[in-house]
Amino acid sequence: MDKLKITGGRPLEGEVRISGAKNAALPIMCAALLTAKPLVLTNVPLLRDVSTMGKLLAEMGVRVERSDDRVTLNATAIAEPTAAYELVKTMRASVLVLGPLLARCGRAKVSLPGGCAIGARPVDQHVKGLEAMGATIAVEHGYMHASARRLQGARIVMDMVTVTGTENLMMAAALAEGETLLENAAREPEVLDLARCLAAMGAKIEGAGSDAIRVVGVRSLGGAEHAVMPDRIETGTYLAAAAATGGKVRLSGTEPDSLDATLDKLRESGARIRVGESFIELESEERPNAVSVRTAPYPGFATDMQAQFMALATVARGTALITETIFENRFMHALELQRLGADIRLEGNTAIVTGVERLQGAKVMATDLRASAGLVIAGLVAEGDTVVDRIYHLDRGYEALETKLSALGARVVRVS
Ligand code: EPZ
Repeated sequence: MDKLKITGGRPLEGEVRISGAKNAALPIMCAALLTAKPLVLTNVPLLRDVSTMGKLLAEMGVRVERSDDRVTLNATAIAEPTAAYELVKTMRASVLVLGPLLARCGRAKVSLPGGCAIGARPVDQHVKGLEAMGATIAVEHGYMHASARRLQGARIVMDMVTVTGTENLMMAAALAEGETLLENAAREPEVLDLARCLAAMGAKIEGAGSDAIRVVGVRSLGGAEHAVMPDRIETGTYLAAAAATGGKVRLSGTEPDSLDATLDKLRESGARIRVGESFIELESEERPNAVSVRTAPYPGFATDMQAQFMALATVARGTALITETIFENRFMHALELQRLGADIRLEGNTAIVTGVERLQGAKVMATDLRASAGLVIAGLVAEGDTVVDRIYHLDRGYEALETKLSALGARVVRVS
């Protein structure tokens, strides 16, 4: 199994280009199920999750063609509206096919995703919303069996803010009869990007990006061409890495407006930041100041940036409180960071991190995608060699990680 060997101690310096957003590409690929016409996507990141989604769609009869960052999806006919356990268990975002399949085919069979490393993560809100739209959903042998004649518009108040839940219901509502109102909807930029793609396909959607989304269903949707938004979490990860190592980086092809909470916290850590329309420059010469963060739905501080900020806090001046409010078990990296010499105490959903002058390289184990990113940042600042095991997690969400880190002067190699 591949590992990443990082020899730490060098500040990151230079420029890299940010890829398309994984968490926008995945729902947008599922939107292809809503139309018999081709959906052409550009700026699609080259990631394992994207190829998993491609496989899942192909199993249903969707033609998926990729050339560089361009993916063409053709769901002329859907042979089998089923998402099997074997793929769903490897990627929870597979549940995003449920709404589109039901809306297009009137039936769907989708495996329940089961547990995952960062918490229980149920899909009850997806189910509740689709049922409110007239679907019948029964769970048998680990699968959701859903059926509906034609989905009906409904007013749905979500019990909590859920990103993929909002996306699933928005896609289903696009082909439903009448008007759907999604309240307490997720405001994440990826939801807005999906809405933009759906609108280009002919959907009638208002309010995406706010907590109340209104969708007026149409009979059918057409094809479209859409460029996937830049990855704000990839951007934030390189910025946190540069701040932790006392580096100077320029990230191009990004969307600074989607990173307000992260940029504020990096400024608070002492980094100097300059933004343009599609670039961010960060410079940080000194040891960062400790900054506390509390995760929250967008526009709050992203849970997907929590591990990277915990890594930053391990070498900061002072004590930071890192509080996780979205997932109940997203501190697995804390124990691994301790193996590198970090001073971290866990109290419920808060990690109390007191910065140390230096971390020391060690062997550590990645547990999920963002936890791995936190370990890589720690490895970049640690003295000596850090070996991160199970980096298939990183391949799910960071395009060309070693290449980009090397371009920034880091000493990183993949070893088998
Ligand atoms: C999305 O997951 C992202 N994934 C996650 O990215 C991200 O961490 C998360 O949103 C939060 O921002 C994609 O966009 C593909 P949620 P999602 O539904 O939609 C609870 C990464 O590393 N909940 O917003 O699955 C849930 O358990 C990742 O790229 C229910 O209880 O997350 C959690 O506590 C991992 N019932 C909270 O809501 C439901 O029906 C928010 O989860 C749905 C969610």
